[in-house]
Amino acid sequence: MENPKATTVVQLKGITKKFPGVLANDRVDLDINSHEILALLGENGAGKTTLMNVLAGLYNPDGGEILLNGKLVQFHSPRDAIANGIGMVHQHFMLVESLTVAENIILSLQSNALSLNLDRIKKEISGLSKKYQMPVDPDAYIWQLSVGEQQRVEIMRLLYRGADVLILDEPTAVLTPNEATELAAVLRHMANEGKAIIIITHKLNEVMNFSDRVTILRAGQKIASFLTAKTSKEELARKMVGRKVLFHLERSACVPGKAVLKLENVEALNEKGLPALRSISFQVCCGEILGVAGVAGNGQRELAEVISGLRTVKKGKILINGEDVTNCTPLQAIDIGISHIPGDRLGVGLAPNLPISDNLTMKAYRERPITRGFFLDRDQLQVFAKNLIQTFAITPPVPETPARLLSGGNQQRLILAREITANQGVIIAVHPSRGLDVGATESVRKTLFEQREQGTSILLISEDLEEILQISDRIMVLYEGKIMGIAEVADITVDEISLMMAGQPLEKFNHELPADGLKT
Ligand SMILES: Nc1ncnc2c1ncn2[C@@H]1O[C@H](COP(=O)(O)OP(=O)(O)OP(=O)(O)O)[C@@H](O)[C@H]1O
Ligand SMILES: [Mg+2]
Repeated sequence: MENPKATTVVQLKGITKKFPGVLANDRVDLDINSHEILALLGENGAGKTTLMNVLAGLYNPDGGEILLNGKLVQFHSPRDAIANGIGMVHQHFMLVESLTVAENIILSLQSNALSLNLDRIKKEISGLSKKYQMPVDPDAYIWQLSVGEQQRVEIMRLLYRGADVLILDEPTAVLTPNEATELAAVLRHMANEGKAIIIITHKLNEVMNFSDRVTILRAGQKIASFLTAKTSKEELARKMVGRKVLFHLERSACVPGKAVLKLENVEALNEKGLPALRSISFQVCCGEILGVAGVAGNGQRELAEVISGLRTVKKGKILINGEDVTNCTPLQAIDIGISHIPGDRLGVGLAPNLPISDNLTMKAYRERPITRGFFLDRDQLQVFAKNLIQTFAITPPVPETPARLLSGGNQQRLILAREITANQGVIIAVHPSRGLDVGATESVRKTLFEQREQGTSILLISEDLEEILQISDRIMVLYEGKIMGIAEVADITVDEISLMMAGQPLEKFNHELPADGLKT
């Protein structure tokens, strides 16, 4: 332990947890200390979430024990765990949208809500807000809050209930880079106040910047632990994947062909009925990746949705190979050959309760050999699914497993497997590597590259500027639903992109839509 104040609060000893077809945790030992931020790192399916779910009382382990301040404890529910000072913020928030922050916090308390004094609770929330420098308005309704603010409410809820050990499962996956920096500061305050913090993340930069210690899991086992100051991104990646990871891709020059996807003055509204896309015009050519950069919430999601038939185009036109496809249905979009890797995995991307096999075959099921006449050929369906499970290394490799039970990264692989296989010329990829480990991220980017080489037109929407710079041929920046500029990746600097992301259009990247077939 580096921090002289740190003391061991929790000891996990030999934790084992099995699921059908997979040993999620295999005799894992882990010490968790006060005053420290511990990062938990590992490939998709390594067992990180499972191990923390065991600690947070959600799962009963099949073997091993938990010691809390040296005493053996057994948690039968998350309530049990929180009563003992251990709480977890899950990837999917569990807040009631129509209630206020204070009401949500009351709701999570065990005692009779009527006997609680709302004013006193609000005061206490404000006190905690100050102490941890984490602004939270007790009277705000959840639906009014950004994702980052909702996350703070989740953290506040645990603090309010007296958590000393706080677990956060991939907290930054849903945050903008700025929000992530703010979260890092909050976590540091909490550690300084004596809390024990555990964060799960795939981002090696965050491990290096946020944590004091880091533990790596691989295939359910603990592989290594380091003091963060004594390790490096490269060492972590190597330990995690078991081989050297390349942090750059060989890129071949783009030889764009004819324009495939073309938008002309497209306008659309967001959920609240406000303009989300304002006169958007651009094109993506055959064999080209167009990266869309921008701060979250500037029209990226709506852009992906209008092209995939999930949102109405109010004005303007969408063309694929010259054919007008404006306001096609999602099913027509599939038939036209548009693949959509959505940002929202569980909402749009997957049918959570259906098995892996059905999720994989959702797009292929209307075609031979899976369909014969009116009948589904169940055997062919299984063969098709098993092939994809193998190619995309989805675990557990059990086609019957419901999609909702898969780890976050394995859910993402499932979507990628289906969409990339079904692609017939156009891929709309929204945060394709969100939640993926470094190895899988690399392989997704490679796959997109291969698709591009085979002539696919790819619209890549990502908040990860590094990802956009790495694989795009051209970059387009969105701000408040408008295009601030489009440039060849080689012609633009990060500073110029940042300026445009902040709302400043740059004259030299002005984008007039060219005559057919030409590149901007
Ligand atoms: N309830 C469950 N039923 C069946 N399999 C499960 C269940 N929960 C997790 N798994 C599987 O157990 C393994 C470990 O999952 P876990 O969620 O702990 O991984 P993880 O390290 O958090 O991965 P990721 O980075 O992808 O989130 C994975 O193969 C996952 O698909
Ligand atoms: Mg996980």
